[in-house]
Amino acid sequence: MGEVYCEGVNAPADIAWDELRSRARGATRRSYAPYSHVRVGAAALTSDGRVIEGSNVENASFGLTLCAECSLVSDLARHGGGRLVAVAVVAGDGEPLAPCGRCRQLLFEFGGNSLLVDAGVGVAPIPLGDLLPGAFGPGDLDERRSE
Ligand code: THU
Repeated sequence: MGEVYCEGVNAPADIAWDELRSRARGATRRSYAPYSHVRVGAAALTSDGRVIEGSNVENASFGLTLCAECSLVSDLARHGGGRLVAVAVVAGDGEPLAPCGRCRQLLFEFGGNSLLVDAGVGVAPIPLGDLLPGAFGPGDLDERRSE
């Protein structure tokens, strides 16, 4: 988990994307990807100014591979929880990598529609709501319980 990043972050202009990308690139060095050789790192800013990181962890079974975002949300929960406001995901070449479908759902749990996903230098970040429209989320459980 990262140190305090900056306080009171609540707008895209406040987010130091270069720093988040740099942290995500650092996380690719802690990836375990002997099968695909695609190292992935993720770094996210929380609403209280922390930076959380994650790296992909592969498995000989292939199907049990953990994506970097999976590692990131696990570390978020283990280090105090909270909400995600911005996330950068990069591959070993340092460039943004599109979160897979499952990871969009994992990120939605902790960031919702407004979580900003890095799209690269000079490109507007994409709200998660645009990447996972009409998402099923925690609110749906309350509304749909039968008993
Ligand atoms: N991967 C991630 O870490 N995050 C994603 O959102 C997409 C894919 C990883 C999983 C696997 O270790 C490697 O990239 C190749 O699929």
